[in-house]
Amino acid sequence: MSTTYSPPTATGIIEQGDPADDPRAFRRALGQFATGVTVISTSDGTHHVGMAVNSFAAVSLDPPLVSWSIRNESRNRDTFVRNGHFAVSVLADDQVDISALFGRPHENQFEHVAWTAGIHGDRLLDQAIAHFECTLEATHEGGDHVILIGRVKRCTRLDGAPLLFSQGQYGIAEAHPQVELTSAAPSVKSSDAGEESPLFTSLLKATEQHMSSLFDEYRKRLDINVVGSRVVNLLDTAPASAGELSERALLGEAAVEDTLSEFKTRGWVSESADKVFKLTDAGRSVRANLLRSAQEFTSSRLNGIDPSDLDAARRVLIRLLTS
Ligand SMILES: Cc1cc2nc3c(=O)[nH]c(=O)nc-3n(C[C@H](O)[C@H](O)[C@H](O)COP(=O)(O)O)c2cc1C
Repeated sequence: MSTTYSPPTATGIIEQGDPADDPRAFRRALGQFATGVTVISTSDGTHHVGMAVNSFAAVSLDPPLVSWSIRNESRNRDTFVRNGHFAVSVLADDQVDISALFGRPHENQFEHVAWTAGIHGDRLLDQAIAHFECTLEATHEGGDHVILIGRVKRCTRLDGAPLLFSQGQYGIAEAHPQVELTSAAPSVKSSDAGEESPLFTSLLKATEQHMSSLFDEYRKRLDINVVGSRVVNLLDTAPASAGELSERALLGEAAVEDTLSEFKTRGWVSESADKVFKLTDAGRSVRANLLRSAQEFTSSRLNGIDPSDLDAARRVLIRLLTS
């Protein structure tokens, strides 16, 4: 057996290499790991800071420890290290706006949200799905970040589902269609007349997932991903900076910056001296191709379905959305 390492040759590799040569590729590979989103806050009694954090992780059950890391360049770095305590609010799936608010430097963020002071005076966000109130157990230098280890003094579990973050975008947690269809309802593949039919909501979810993964093929042909297509669509309405795009599209700033830099190389966008991005003619034709692909995709999927069935399906969906 050979002991020499040989790089994986599996098909489907999009990019591979030493992160030192391409930090953006490293960030994209890390983005394949889905996380939740938290807002972590600290207070010295008069000065309250909070920031969106997805590096939060469980460390130990006994003693109860958690960790997260903060950029050395963050304005809040020294405050968190100095205060010696922090509070973690795990965001719910309807708190994207709160993540966006705490994900960029804003003044007086806490004026825009409902919060309650915890046992150390750190602010806990109402409507979060869990709270962890911690004292700072240790800090470790970790390259361009500092790792903070917290000892959990009080934890609270609240009602709700988590907000997720992966591939530079927010998401929601749903039961996998395979789980959904085997647990909540009989198999969707079943066509036996005698069998019970799948739950309507399970069918809706499975259809949405199926259509979305099929449309991915169309995007691949245009050499663009979901983040890229949203950036192109937004820039088609008006020129914007990376920060504005990230806020409007509710995408991670790093993912937007990577996308814009890639688009610049491809000649799809131009950047002004004040860092505002605008679609070029080539970029506008990508947008037109995307639109055409979406229309082509829809008509190919709906081809052969009886128009009266389609009308009925539309009526049902509109009714569900508006009732
Ligand atoms: C979803 C999300 C996750 C983030 N995770 C982290 C993180 O783990 N560590 C970190 O230092 N910054 C993280 N950030 C960025 C900080 O929230 C952001 O830098 C901060 O709020 C702005 O202040 P600063 O630029 O002074 O740090 C994240 C942002 C978002 C939107």
